[in-house]
Amino acid sequence: MTDTATADPGYVFDNHNENARDQHRFLAAAYDPLTTRRLDGAGVGPGWRCLEVGAGGGGVAHWLARRVAPGGSVVATDVKPDHIAPAEGLRVWRHDVTSDPLPEAEFDLVHSRLVLLHLPERIEVLNRLVHALKPGGVLQLDEFDITYGPSLLMPDTGARELYEEFLSAKIRVMSRAGADPAWGRHAAGAMRRAGLVDVDPQPHVELWDSGSPGVHLIAHHTRHLRDAFVREGMTDGQLARVRGLLADPSFRACSCVVYSVQGRRPE
Ligand SMILES: C[S@@+](CC[C@H](N)C(=O)[O-])C[C@H]1O[C@@H](n2cnc3c(N)ncnc32)[C@H](O)[C@@H]1O
Repeated sequence: MTDTATADPGYVFDNHNENARDQHRFLAAAYDPLTTRRLDGAGVGPGWRCLEVGAGGGGVAHWLARRVAPGGSVVATDVKPDHIAPAEGLRVWRHDVTSDPLPEAEFDLVHSRLVLLHLPERIEVLNRLVHALKPGGVLQLDEFDITYGPSLLMPDTGARELYEEFLSAKIRVMSRAGADPAWGRHAAGAMRRAGLVDVDPQPHVELWDSGSPGVHLIAHHTRHLRDAFVREGMTDGQLARVRGLLADPSFRACSCVVYSVQGRRPE
């Protein structure tokens, strides 16, 4: 098992870890419907030039490439872009958004999901994304606030305490790596301060049960972030019990909040 938090400071998961493919699959199942509904609402269509930052498994980049045809183009970036399959109209860049150059005033749409929250330099990155937009272009950030997510129905009190310790440990894991676990709630204000107008934050929560894609994602975290959880004091036995709890048909919790925030660069 790779020790992810020390391998890649500023990003707690490792896109080269053997768990990364599953992570991208679960992220896509849980959040692509929300992301693409919002992008659809922004009017993304033929001819648009789009930038997808930290594209992960590439599902959103592929959706965009289909949407902007004919005549449009999509650039998908990632520090570790190995999971992004080639597609017509899609260029893939190995690119660190904290330090590598971005074109100025180039894109009709810049989208990034669950990337800035991990990066200590998120405000500088946000400013760079704004400058990459054409005047009138749209930035969409889809970001978590994982500090919210109450348990609702648990098999017993011990299970509730275990779930709450798991959520707290994940907040500590992410904070230690430089993430802001509540970034989703701050993104809209930061986008307005970065000069965007018509800023539109849409919070999304849902009921989680054992069949929810979001629950499959957090169950996956017990494996992908295993070493980091152990450093935060959780044992392998507790992590196995968390997986059992998340698979229990009686488990009910409110999801964390994902904020889908759009803003426009002034003309
Ligand atoms: C939590 S994953 C989200 C992936 C995808 N956006 C999604 O929501 O399905 C974060 C992604 O950001 C990438 N990443 C991390 N740091 C980055 C950086 N400095 N520049 C560009 N990409 C980065 C990771 O490799 C990973 O693919």
